[in-house]
Amino acid sequence: MFVFERKTDLNQFVNQAKADGKTIGFVPTMGALHSGHLALVSAAKECCSKVVASIFVNPLQFNNPDDLKKYPRTFESDKIMLEDAGCDAVFFPAVKEMYPNPDEAEDVFNFGTLETVMEGASRPGHFNGVAIVVKKLFDLVQPDKAFFGKKDFQQLAIIKALVKQTASRIQIIGLDTVREEDGLAMSSRNRRLSKQEREDAVELSQALNIIKKNKNILEPASLETEAVNMLSKKFRVEYVQIIDGHSLQQITNWNQSNYPVVCAAAFIGDVRLIDNLEL
Ligand code: PAJ
Repeated sequence: MFVFERKTDLNQFVNQAKADGKTIGFVPTMGALHSGHLALVSAAKECCSKVVASIFVNPLQFNNPDDLKKYPRTFESDKIMLEDAGCDAVFFPAVKEMYPNPDEAEDVFNFGTLETVMEGASRPGHFNGVAIVVKKLFDLVQPDKAFFGKKDFQQLAIIKALVKQTASRIQIIGLDTVREEDGLAMSSRNRRLSKQEREDAVELSQALNIIKKNKNILEPASLETEAVNMLSKKFRVEYVQIIDGHSLQQITNWNQSNYPVVCAAAFIGDVRLIDNLEL
């Protein structure tokens, strides 16, 4: 597997692959890889002749400096995992390679109501930062297909909107959330949980499953309130929202959506976890 730290080296690889008539599958990540990331690599391998991953902890999408500082960085083991998964190349740039001129104005995107809710409301500027880096990465890797997890449900919707807005021909593939055996959604942030916090963290996915079981029996608002009450014993809940999976807007009645999804964000200790479930 090639490791490219420079855009020019990545560019040569991409140009050669294109000249050879290869299709490129792309898996952007921030590293600290787990089976969720590797499932994206496997899916890319199945339908593309070359797979490129990226590992870049993008400062622009962190609204909390402490979160950025504490984000796990495990490049050596990430590299082995990607190689074992059959990845062909990994792009691992330094911050100055992606943002050579800090004074340069970056793009400002407008995703309308897709970005004013949930993660967008809790983390100002987050999705603009995601869109800036993903657009730069797409321009560099020029993939035919790019793979994202439904774990970050709102991010996936934003990326699809980005592709539309920029008239890009990249096909965006969304893949199901990979979970630990007890149901906790895999996340790079899980490594920051203490043993006790890790045990308690499972309740987040349990609360979402209870909502799924009671769909159509109780109204969305009362299920949200019940979940918040249940979670508040162990978590500091930011939101539990039942939304329409297309518009991402909260629904108050089951008739309002043919694709309801429950999304939640909650802190356990100082670790912020998100999860969601299609209902
Ligand atoms: P990161 O959090 O590293 O996630 C990279 C990709 O892995 C995302 O598409 C995410 O949804 C997916 N993923 C994470 N956990 C998953 C799980 N348990 N099951 C399935 N897929 C999972 O998301 C980002 O990085 C960044 O915002 C990025 C898109 C790279 C831009 O910086």
